[in-house]
Amino acid sequence: MQKLKLKIKNLVEMEELAQSLALYFNEQPGIIFLDGDLGAGKTTFTQFFAKEIGVQEVVTSPTFNIFKRYQGSKRYLNHFDLYRIKDNVYDQGFEEYWDSMEDITIIEWSKYLPNEFKSLANLHLTIKIIDEDKREIAVLAKNSIILFLEENNDEFIY
Ligand SMILES: Nc1ncnc2c1ncn2[C@@H]1O[C@H](COP(=O)(O)OP(=O)(O)O)[C@@H](O)[C@H]1O
Ligand SMILES: [Mg+2]
Repeated sequence: MQKLKLKIKNLVEMEELAQSLALYFNEQPGIIFLDGDLGAGKTTFTQFFAKEIGVQEVVTSPTFNIFKRYQGSKRYLNHFDLYRIKDNVYDQGFEEYWDSMEDITIIEWSKYLPNEFKSLANLHLTIKIIDEDKREIAVLAKNSIILFLEENNDEFIY
C-alpha cells in the first residue's frame, strides 16, 4: 500500500475522480473504504461511482438501512454505511459480501470496522472538508491504483 494526497476543488472534480476510479474497479473489482466527517462527500462519491458502472437506481445514503446492493452493467455494487452500527459490525453478517471476488464493495465509515478487517481495502480514501466545495483526500491504495491515479488523474495530485 502506498499514499497520495489529492486536492479536489469542487463537485465536478469529485465526479471526475469517482468516474476514473469506477473505470479501474469495473475491470479489477475490490473494496473501497471511505472515511471523513459527515458531509465530507462519501455518499456523493459513491453516487458518481455507481453512475459510471451503470447503476440505474438512485443511490441513497444507506445510513438508515446500513447496506444496499445495486446492479451495475457489469458488476454489483455493495454499499455499506457503518455509522449507526459502529461497534456491532460483527453481528451483521456482512463478511460474505466483502469476500466476493466479482463485486465492488464501498464501505462508508470504515473506521468502525474491527481491526482484523482493516487490511481488506484496495483503496482507502479519507476525505477532509476544506470549505464548502473543496476537499482534500488522503489516499492509501495498492500500488497499481496509485499508478493508475498518477497516469489518469495527475491534476488532482499534490
Ligand atoms: N467537492 C465536493 N465533493 C463532494 N461533495 C461535495 C463537494 N462540494 C460540495 N459537496 C457537497 O457536500 C455534501 C456531501 O454530502 P455526503 O456525500 O452525503 O457526505 P457524507 O456521505 O460524507 O456524509 C453534498 O451535499 C455535496 O453536494
Ligand atoms: Mg454518507
